[in-house]
Amino acid sequence: MSDKQFHTVTIAGATGNLGFHIANALLNEGSYNVTALRRKPENINEKAKLLASKGAKIVYADFNDKNDLINVIKGTDVFISVVGHGDYYNNQIMLVNASKEAGVKRFIPSEFGSEFAQGMEPHPILAGKYKLREVLEKSGLEYTYIFNGVFYEFLEVFGFDAKNKKATFYTDGNAKLRIISLADAGRYTAESLKIPEARNGIIRVGFTLTLNELLQKLEEASGSKWEVVEDKDVQRRFKEKIDPVPPLIDDFKAFISNNAVYHDTDNDKFSFTPLSITEFLNSNAV
Ligand SMILES: NC(=O)c1ccc[n+]([C@@H]2O[C@H](COP(=O)([O-])OP(=O)(O)OC[C@H]3O[C@@H](n4cnc5c(N)ncnc54)[C@H](OP(=O)(O)O)[C@@H]3O)[C@@H](O)[C@H]2O)c1
Repeated sequence: MSDKQFHTVTIAGATGNLGFHIANALLNEGSYNVTALRRKPENINEKAKLLASKGAKIVYADFNDKNDLINVIKGTDVFISVVGHGDYYNNQIMLVNASKEAGVKRFIPSEFGSEFAQGMEPHPILAGKYKLREVLEKSGLEYTYIFNGVFYEFLEVFGFDAKNKKATFYTDGNAKLRIISLADAGRYTAESLKIPEARNGIIRVGFTLTLNELLQKLEEASGSKWEVVEDKDVQRRFKEKIDPVPPLIDDFKAFISNNAVYHDTDNDKFSFTPLSITEFLNSNAV
């Protein structure tokens, strides 16, 4: 690992599902000045309170006011954007621009999902992330893309319904999926600041297993067989608008199932062993 070159980190989205864990991991590391940048107007937020109690500075800015943003970002070495769902380009472009003007060294954009073959047309939900990458790479800021696959905590959204013990496969059961806990994605993101390969690069983390293997682990942890529903035609029905047209989110899940690519991970470049799905399931009764 390289010598520590970054001291101050500002996070947009630190009150979110993942952002909280990134901020928490940076605070646990003990030597970073961590700022959680929130959108005005100020409001009470339990996660922000918790981060403040651990030493984070909480600041607010009007994200549509560049000078306001620059003022709060100034002095930051690394800007981590973990802003949530929506228009990933328009929700982040002002953060990239303000970071550049404020003298930020590295910008980590809100990726934190799956990876797809280079040159492949992005799914509409991801189009804004791709567009932002183009601007970021031209900006002169250092950048890191973190690809962590799907979070254990979001497996239900991806077709693994623990409550009803029902799994929906959008592709063959031998297809792969990469998975990780939110907490470990937070730790990897924090520790990436010390990994030389993260400079203008991609960091891939998590466990890779097939849908059948994941199902087996879910069945073992829940102590019962799950129903498997195969729905392999979603993308065609969506594209051809065949009634009932699947919702965009189902098309997105099928897109990931059918198109995500899985290069070797960088797990072994980091100092810790992530929580396996079985450990996670056993500590969070399925
Ligand atoms: N791989 C997976 O399974 C998976 C699952 C979920 C998400 N993700 C990815 O992880 C990233 C973070 O998602 P998340 O679920 O952690 O986000 P989230 O919980 O929805 O949190 C978003 C946070 O971003 C801030 N924010 C700033 N500008 C915003 C805007 N214009 N709209 C909405 N929120 C805004 C808000 O904080 P303040 O109110 O404090 O400003 C909010 O707490 C995204 O890139 C997402 O695609 C991946």
